[in-house]
Order: sequence, then structure tokens, then C-alpha cells
Amino acid sequence: MTRLGVLVSGRGSNLGAILEACAAGRIDGEVVVVASNKAACRAMQVARDGGVPTVVSFPVREFGGNLADRDAAMAAALRDAGVDLVVTAGYDRINSEEFVAAFPGRILNVHPSLLPAFGGSMGAIQEALAAGVKVTGVTVHFIEPETIDSGAIVAQECVRVEPDDTLESLSEKVHAVEHRILPEAIQWWIDRR
Ligand code: GRF
Repeated sequence: MTRLGVLVSGRGSNLGAILEACAAGRIDGEVVVVASNKAACRAMQVARDGGVPTVVSFPVREFGGNLADRDAAMAAALRDAGVDLVVTAGYDRINSEEFVAAFPGRILNVHPSLLPAFGGSMGAIQEALAAGVKVTGVTVHFIEPETIDSGAIVAQECVRVEPDDTLESLSEKVHAVEHRILPEAIQWWIDRR
């Protein structure tokens, strides 16, 4: 069974979707570790509630503010847990180059836009709305060295922006797509597709 490590910073709805997909057999794998850059966040509670064996947090202040040291410790924790695939699901930091190099072709990220549009931002849904685009969506892609939101694309799906959409209604539609295509893309990786 493929061992998954998930990096989180926020609500953990994507983590919840991954855990559900594992439980339902739609992902032939198990989440063995959830790691966060936050001291505490809702996603860590989602992990505990979901029975993830290792839930760890790596706030940078515990590493004297040194991002490289923090990421090295996080990479070591994932390696110690025997992680095959890392998934960044609502993780709000850019991984250090050393971190990315430690998991070549083995880090998937979910981004709430049709990349390359609205890349490099944590506010992609808001930006799409403000730009007046009629279609936005979701991208699952690899995190690759020296790229930000521009590694090879694994899956993409469109979401229509209706004239009366608000940030809330559009976010809801985007998240619903994320929760479906991220687990699917993880299973494709497991199947080496
Ligand atoms: C998602 O929209 C994800 O694409 C973005 O941050 C959000 C995280 O949501 N990177 P959650 O923490 O998985 O609920």
C-alpha cells in the first residue's frame, strides 16, 4: 500500500477528501503522516480525527526562523515515516529546493485555478473573480525544482464563473472539484499513469 505524507496549513478539507478516498478504497494507499508549518490548524485535527498515526508540526520559529532547517526536519520526518508520495493540500509555504530535491517526481500539489492562470498566489479564487474570467478551475500538478505553481500538470478541471457568483459560492464549487480530482490524481500516480 502506498504511503502518503500530506502537508497542510489550513482547514484540511482536501486532507479530509484524501482520507475518505483511502477509506473507501478509491486511493490504494494510506496517510501515514500529516505535517504542518503551523503550530496548530484545523487540518491537524482532521488528521487526528481520521486516525493518521503521525501528526507533526514544524513552525519555523522553532528553527530560529530558518526555513531551510525547518524544511530539512520536515523532509526527515516524511522519510522516517517511509512516505512514497507527498501531497501538499492547502499548504501555504513554498518548499525549499532541498525539500523538493528530496522527493523527485513525488510531490503533488492542488491549486485552485487553471494554471498557469492565477499561479503563485494563495488568493487565486478571489483573483479569478476580480479578473472577471468566465471559467476558472482546479489544477493538480507536480512540484518540481525551481518552479512555483508551474510543474508538470497531472489533472485540470474547469469551473464556470456565473454572473452572480460570490467569493463564497465560487470557492464552494472550486473546492468540490478539488475534493474529487486530487484523490483521483493521487490514484493515477499510484497506478503510474
Ligand atoms: C485549497 O483551495 C487549495 O487548493 C489551496 O488552499 C485551499 C486549502 O483548503 N492551496 P483545505 O485546507 O484543503 O481545506
